[in-house]
Amino acid sequence: MASKSGALSVLKIRKMKELGEKIAVVTAYDYPTAAMADAAGVDAILVGDSFATVVQGRTTTLGAKLEETIYHAEMVARGAKRAVPIVDIPFPYCQLGPLEAVRACARVLKETDATAVKIEGGAKRAETVRAVVEAGIPVLGHCGLAPQSVKATGYRVQRDVDVLLANCLAIEEAGAFAVVLECVQREYAEEVSKKLSIPTIGIGSGAGCDGQVLVFHDLFNYANQEPSETPKHARVYRDLHKEIVEGLGEYVADVKSGAFPGDAESFGAK
Ligand code: KIV
Repeated sequence: MASKSGALSVLKIRKMKELGEKIAVVTAYDYPTAAMADAAGVDAILVGDSFATVVQGRTTTLGAKLEETIYHAEMVARGAKRAVPIVDIPFPYCQLGPLEAVRACARVLKETDATAVKIEGGAKRAETVRAVVEAGIPVLGHCGLAPQSVKATGYRVQRDVDVLLANCLAIEEAGAFAVVLECVQREYAEEVSKKLSIPTIGIGSGAGCDGQVLVFHDLFNYANQEPSETPKHARVYRDLHKEIVEGLGEYVADVKSGAFPGDAESFGAK
């Protein structure tokens, strides 16, 4: 399909690093959120497998399914007019090796209007990243904390700069157009960002990255009960939980008291 006019491309995202322009990325899982992110000037929209936690209420991302990913990606790609829609490939397609990974990534690109995929994991995923790139599918890498390996590694800040650099270089060499750095000690994320020619997109990895990504639900306290439950790396820009619960409370009170609906919200003789 022809690219939408005015739309960003992965090449432009890559170029932003050379120009010293920071890259703003947010997750989205449906059409209205993607359209709002696009209208706000976000550069790329990630259909994260985080939908398994923030939308489905699971405790890890491991339960995300490929069919569900495609369902969310279709809606997001429709809302992304300028921003680059990128789709996280859920566990375990890329862990199964290059062939399964190419099959899953190709399905995502055939069945949605997404532009690129995200593949989690460092050097041990390099062969898979290379195969997907060679199939003509742009890949965003993902190094540092790997939520798809949480049962083996736990959620820990990544503090081994040599391992991190080796992983990122392997992914860059395999052809990724950019790489997410998740929960990396900020000095090391900055050092790695300077050594890579592709952009780094940080989450919990400090200001030295070439761009930032946040989960929409963290930005707006949409899933959490209290802002204090927001992950350390996120900033709550608006408290939608509070706004929505208060608004719904008013609606309930109005229904109970008879204040809703009024004549203005009802159909009369004319
Ligand atoms: O699934 C997701 O939302 C992600 C981001 C946190 C980078 O992988």
